[in-house]
Amino acid sequence: MIPIEKFKKWYEEEIEKSSVRIPSACCLTSIGIDGYPNSRFVSLKEIVDNKFVITGPLNSKKGIELLSNPKASLTFWWTETERQIRIQGDSVQIENERADMYFRERNKESQIVSKISKQGAEIKSLTELTNLFENLKSEYIDAEITRPAEWSGFYIIPKRIEFMEFSKSRFHFRELFTKENGFWNKVILQP
Ligand SMILES: Cc1cc2nc3c(=O)[nH]c(=O)nc-3n(C[C@H](O)[C@H](O)[C@H](O)COP(=O)(O)O)c2cc1C
Repeated sequence: MIPIEKFKKWYEEEIEKSSVRIPSACCLTSIGIDGYPNSRFVSLKEIVDNKFVITGPLNSKKGIELLSNPKASLTFWWTETERQIRIQGDSVQIENERADMYFRERNKESQIVSKISKQGAEIKSLTELTNLFENLKSEYIDAEITRPAEWSGFYIIPKRIEFMEFSKSRFHFRELFTKENGFWNKVILQP
């Protein structure tokens, strides 16, 4: 089984058992401008042509970092099935049409927040922003909100995918897939 198919199978098996609100949550690590790794949780949008898709503003820390050094990792820990998946790969900005599509799928509140908030910028108090939000909510109630130009996302094109199945015996089963010359090579790793 190629690793993407295995990922989808594990994801389905977790979702079937899990009642968490955001099962798509995963830890995205980018390489900071200062060279330190920088991790935060994001939501996996979907897998398109074997590429993992995440979204967010390009002018946020993660956006700036992924544009300046297009290498990333995504890590999942699924509690119900006790499985971890680690993905490393190259990041490529998604097309505007695709970004439009994901933006349209967001609910109105999220769209307004994306429009008014400069993610990661310093602010004295949130009140100014929440007041603006309340004003715009009534203004935009029936209007379509266009995607801010900087709101987009990235494909993470996997080079390595490691699956780990947790075992009470501590002999966790680890399987590492590495893409070489267009083909996935598989090895088993010690726990
Ligand atoms: C479960 C979860 C899911 C999240 N999903 C996203 C997401 O899809 N996109 C996003 O920009 N931020 C998401 N966030 C917020 C990020 O963790 C982070 O605070 C934000 O992206 C700013 O990170 P940055 O300053 O490194 O760019 C999520 C947070 C959590 C806890």
